[in-house]
Amino acid sequence: MRFDHSDRLRTKSHALIPGGCHAYAKADSEYPQLSPGFITRGQGCHVWDVDGNEFIEYAPGNRSVSLGHAYRPVVEAITNELQRGVNFTRPAEIEVRAAEKLLSVLTNAEMVKFCKNGSDATTAAIRLARAATGRDLVACCADHPFFAFDDWFIATTPHSCGIPETTKSLTLTFRYNDIDSVKTLFESYKKQIACLILEPARHEEPQDDFLSDLKQICRDHGTLLVFDEMITGFRWHLRGGQAVYGVDPDLACWGKAMANGFSISALTGKRRYMELGDLSTQPNNLFLLSTTHGAETHSLAAMMATLDAYTTLPVIDTLYKQGRRLAEGFRRLVAEHHLGHAIDVIGRPCCLSYHTKDCSGHYSPLLRALFLQETIRRGILMSSFVVTYSHSDSDIDQTLAAIDGALGVYAKALREGTEKYLQGPSPRPIYRR
Ligand SMILES: Cc1ncc(COP(=O)(O)O)c(C=O)c1O
Repeated sequence: MRFDHSDRLRTKSHALIPGGCHAYAKADSEYPQLSPGFITRGQGCHVWDVDGNEFIEYAPGNRSVSLGHAYRPVVEAITNELQRGVNFTRPAEIEVRAAEKLLSVLTNAEMVKFCKNGSDATTAAIRLARAATGRDLVACCADHPFFAFDDWFIATTPHSCGIPETTKSLTLTFRYNDIDSVKTLFESYKKQIACLILEPARHEEPQDDFLSDLKQICRDHGTLLVFDEMITGFRWHLRGGQAVYGVDPDLACWGKAMANGFSISALTGKRRYMELGDLSTQPNNLFLLSTTHGAETHSLAAMMATLDAYTTLPVIDTLYKQGRRLAEGFRRLVAEHHLGHAIDVIGRPCCLSYHTKDCSGHYSPLLRALFLQETIRRGILMSSFVVTYSHSDSDIDQTLAAIDGALGVYAKALREGTEKYLQGPSPRPIYRR
């Protein structure tokens, strides 16, 4: 497998675009040298790079493409809408149909506001919680890696340069499954916390009624509970983690899989909060979420076609089924290669990741790079094990055959040193929790 064209484009892209691309999760800093730099097209779960190499791809579009690339009904819906114009001086009629459709699926929510990126929705939720409570402090879960590229969240990461200290001081953190860390926050900042924001779950499942206790504590303190359903939504369950765990948040944020990779996100919530965005009821105290492109008609059409697929086809069951097939096969191969101490698979079958470990059991970015390199060599592009509706049995079996080969090299590298097998310098991934 050669990457000559990719390598040439890499030089150019880094000269033009800081980091070489527009999402750090996709960047060269995350991948070994021996990897496809640029993709030209995708179909289902297969993609082709600029050198003509074909890969079976996992977690496409940072997990936003859940049905598969160029999924025909979504493409047709978009194409039809594009012919009719995408943005007008007054709202498009499809805005009402799209709101009705989404709210008919997300039965806990009473109102919705559409926007473009997940960050728009989470940041709007923070602003709305502040508007509703008249409080400045917010608290996010320290164990969840990403909520927004906006100041209130980036302030809590090591990449906070450019964010004023005053802004940094307004975001607190608590730990997942640690209700005492939440109680301590409320004791230290009485009547000051506008909202708690977290993903309902990530790799760790909620223990001991953590989520319902959180809800109760929020209620007791007049604080809003916000669920970031960017990943759990349309994956854990059609209605997200809140449906799986039976806990109803005050506000929820959706994006990613909602429109099969097209740019649309949503803030949903209880009417009493969402109505703060209505000028007719809030002339002097308006919560403002207003964007030029938030309701582009073709993205709304993509969402509606995606929701049609989710509600008429066994999409989520398939994500679980194919994830299970992959996880079971992977565990069998890991056992055959005697690598149980060095690599494992984590998470729900619909949203799996792998974890590479050095001899002392710590996360090893070097071994991750090697695993990526060796699976890429064998035609698989897997930054995680997140499947789409398009992954067939044969795609999974082909993936497992590639993993078998990759684990053979992995085992040798553990014995003889990773440097001997990893081509080029070690990647330098961006900090993640
Ligand atoms: C859980 C979660 N919330 C929010 C976001 C932000 O979404 P976006 O990149 O669309 O702004 C992400 C992005 O990866 C995410 O994983």
